[in-house]
Amino acid sequence: MSIRKIAQLGEPILRRVAEPFAKRELRSAEFQSLLDDLIETMRDADGAGLAAPQIYVSRQLCAIEVQANPRYPAFPQIPLTVLVNPRLTPLESAGTIAMYEGCLSVGGMRGRVTRPRSVRVQALRPDGDEIDEIWEGIAAAIVQHEVDHLQGHLYVDHVDPSTLCFLREYERHVPLEARIVDGGPPQ
Ligand code: NI
Repeated sequence: MSIRKIAQLGEPILRRVAEPFAKRELRSAEFQSLLDDLIETMRDADGAGLAAPQIYVSRQLCAIEVQANPRYPAFPQIPLTVLVNPRLTPLESAGTIAMYEGCLSVGGMRGRVTRPRSVRVQALRPDGDEIDEIWEGIAAAIVQHEVDHLQGHLYVDHVDPSTLCFLREYERHVPLEARIVDGGPPQ
């Protein structure tokens, strides 16, 4: 396993639509090595999630995990979840969550993004089993952020530009109650 370099905003690979995996590829040593490195790189950087294009691999793979994350102390714990070829269907009628997001590819910044607060998540697990689940709240926002990476989108595409800030100023000036507002009206 190794910790890989994380692509920063402006790298063209972050703007490409990632290639899906064929199911048989999931049994390959190359896939396992990529997955191990993705998880190790995410944990090393204290990320709540990481998508393969962020480590310069334009494939449909992302990992999400929140375990008492110092970058996101308000987040609930989310066990390690790996999604291959994910598809999301937002449940628009469930309302919205407005949350200050950050991204390991947009170093040192935060900004508020409003997203549907509930999404249907369909994907493959790394063992090839199918996932079909409804995710809500903060977990729904995180999975939308990660799957956006696989479509060449970054949170800065959706951010309310007037809220964009550096981490130091975020910690000083954005009150705790404004960092996550879970439960707004449908967009
Ligand atoms: Ni990101």
